[in-house]
Amino acid sequence: MRAILPLYPLENPMPKASADAPIGIFDSGIGGLSVAQEIANYLPNERILYYADTAHVPYGARDDQNIRELTAQAIEWLYRQGCKIAVVACNTASAFSLDFLREHYGENFPIVGLVPALKPAVLQTQSKVVAVLATPATFRGQLIKDVVLRFAEPSGVDVMPVTCLELVPFVEAGLQNSEQCKTALKNVLDPILAKQADYLVLGCTHYPFLKNAIQNLYGDQLTLVDSGLAVARQTARILIKNNLLSELPLQNKTQLSCYVSGHNADTLTPVLKHLIQEKISWSICDVIDKLQ
Ligand code: DGL
Repeated sequence: MRAILPLYPLENPMPKASADAPIGIFDSGIGGLSVAQEIANYLPNERILYYADTAHVPYGARDDQNIRELTAQAIEWLYRQGCKIAVVACNTASAFSLDFLREHYGENFPIVGLVPALKPAVLQTQSKVVAVLATPATFRGQLIKDVVLRFAEPSGVDVMPVTCLELVPFVEAGLQNSEQCKTALKNVLDPILAKQADYLVLGCTHYPFLKNAIQNLYGDQLTLVDSGLAVARQTARILIKNNLLSELPLQNKTQLSCYVSGHNADTLTPVLKHLIQEKISWSICDVIDKLQ
């Protein structure tokens, strides 16, 4: 990969996007499709251009600067495709990138980010112990620290950080219901139940795809929360504020167009068939030599 400056110059700004331009969504891999589907359901008139950086997934064990560079490159690609807004559907990428991206693009290109959905868990926990399952990089970022300080500490709620680097590759490979994945989940989640956690925040966009596996293991002992719907609502609010909400029905246009950087569209197609709801029309293609 060539070196990329995190703050590249905005030499040739794109013309201001119109309401019928697509929403751009980015994740290190296919996990952000959990968010993309919330947005597709909440905003059914919108076209979505989804970019999965499958050449570099997982981001969770990468260093801060490398995550920032990869994120900057991805968001620039969405911008150059003419998207009207970008959703960083990745807690890990958001943790290091939101401030400089917003400063760089200004009002021309709004950026929506993610932070683990700790607030609803803190408000509803009975045991006053909440676990957050996220990548090591997400826990290093300031966003999650701010949420803990603002919501958990004043309510006397104990926040247990939990990481497991094996989980994202399981989802990428379509192995979220495999025995190996269950074992990995048990290794990290048994200890949080032993500490009386009653809420589990899915602080990585890949993890909503593990809901079935977690519920099969623990039933209603753990209530699961994620940020998907809140991000869809926030995206809608920003589009409305900027007069960018699409009014026209999609008719037979593809709702969700996926682009992957890893030249693995063929291998991902059967995986996505399981992850994407039937009512959403989608396509997938390899793209991204153009980024290098
Ligand atoms: N889906 C990403 C997140 O929300 C990161 C997964 C990874 O690449 O490690 O944090």
